[in-house]
Amino acid sequence: KLPAPFTLPFRVPPVLRPARSDGDTDHYEITQRAAQVEILPGLRTEVWGYNGIFPGPTIVSRRGRRTVVRHRNELPVPVVVHLHGGRTPPESDGYPTDLVKASGGTKEYAYPLDQPAATLWYHDHRMDFTGPQVYRGLAGLHLHHDDEEEALPLPRGDRDVPLMITDRAFDEDGSFSYPSVDPSLQGKPGVTGDFMSGVLGDCVLVNGVPWPVMEVTAARYRFRVLNASNARRYLLALDPPPPDGAAFTQIGSDQGLLAAPVGHDELQIAQAERFDVIVDFSRYPIGTQVTLRNKLGKDGTGDVMRFIVARRGSDDSRIPDRLADIRPLSRSDAVAEREFTFERGGAEHDGVTLWTVNGTPFSPDTIAATPRLGTVELWKLRAQNVPHPIHIHLAPFQVLDPGPYAGGWKDTVDLRSGDQAEVLVKFDGYRGKYVFHCHNLEHEDMMMMANFDVR
Ligand code: C2O
Ligand code: CU
Repeated sequence: KLPAPFTLPFRVPPVLRPARSDGDTDHYEITQRAAQVEILPGLRTEVWGYNGIFPGPTIVSRRGRRTVVRHRNELPVPVVVHLHGGRTPPESDGYPTDLVKASGGTKEYAYPLDQPAATLWYHDHRMDFTGPQVYRGLAGLHLHHDDEEEALPLPRGDRDVPLMITDRAFDEDGSFSYPSVDPSLQGKPGVTGDFMSGVLGDCVLVNGVPWPVMEVTAARYRFRVLNASNARRYLLALDPPPPDGAAFTQIGSDQGLLAAPVGHDELQIAQAERFDVIVDFSRYPIGTQVTLRNKLGKDGTGDVMRFIVARRGSDDSRIPDRLADIRPLSRSDAVAEREFTFERGGAEHDGVTLWTVNGTPFSPDTIAATPRLGTVELWKLRAQNVPHPIHIHLAPFQVLDPGPYAGGWKDTVDLRSGDQAEVLVKFDGYRGKYVFHCHNLEHEDMMMMANFDVR
């Protein structure tokens, strides 16, 4: 029932037009609704989508203008919208219990977006049900620009391409197969026993298309790679590798451009991370098929998509040696130190051992940290049992000793089991209560989340 890899055409989600723009604000409207779409050829899949599509429409914004999105929820369940990577006041951040009511509720989310150009994304964040609701389709891209980025000679237009990677499993009839305890998502949260560690699919989709194929010009492309999968991590590589130079030149991370480009032959990307990379297809002869593989996958999940170098073309893009001004933080900037361990244990529910932070399951009433506005803190994040990609809302961070993949300003850090990362977190912008959590969405739904309150 799954299509052969590299047979379906690549596409990019449509860019959403503002419903209106005034002074300094662009106003958007999104309706969350169920729709039947063709993902597998000849079959219908019900998605829960922003405007009924998966991925949702892409929002494009620019520093200096506010984005306001009015969401209308026509789904049969409550929803919450979070702009991942956005520096957002608490009332618009999509706190997990800040629900937009089922069947007709509305909420206006206001995003000042006073932050550098970056690849952001928005997705559902309903407490206990984020995994199944994102799996059904509630995820979209938000590309944020600024003058500094615009001044760089990077590839642009149709050579600036988002790649939202997700894995999904399908039932015989084409519907998404997600092992919810309660498929109506009204009652009991969680997944059936075998899926406590996370839900994996056997089909890899890019921008909602299974293993697509994209014709490219023999030129540089900018790819904004987002891993929007619930539980799958990827190690991406080009096959064949280019004859010379690194396969990928990374220019940006979660929170925007790096100080300087970094070459990688492989890209390790955990859930919710973004890598902004340049691939130069002029290094391949015309006609070459270049496959993007996942070295952590087997069979179908070892493949992601394919590029066909179809034609010659002019290219006036360049990768500058300096990209952005990034002041590296140091230990001495931190005014406080905290430790958080992400592991299984410390709490149970109906005989199931939950995922916890410092042994405590998520509750909206328990505050794990109270950083002061305008300060930097050193957080030691430790992962046990299995990998945990840790995401902190509002506050961007730098990883001390970042290794090859964690340079620049981040909002999500990938920890393997037993790893500890020290991150310098900058609490700026807004006071209020926010969450930080594991972005394995099944772990998150099974309580691996905690609050901090910026005072
Ligand atoms: Cu991408 Cu708290 O989420
Ligand atoms: Cu986790």
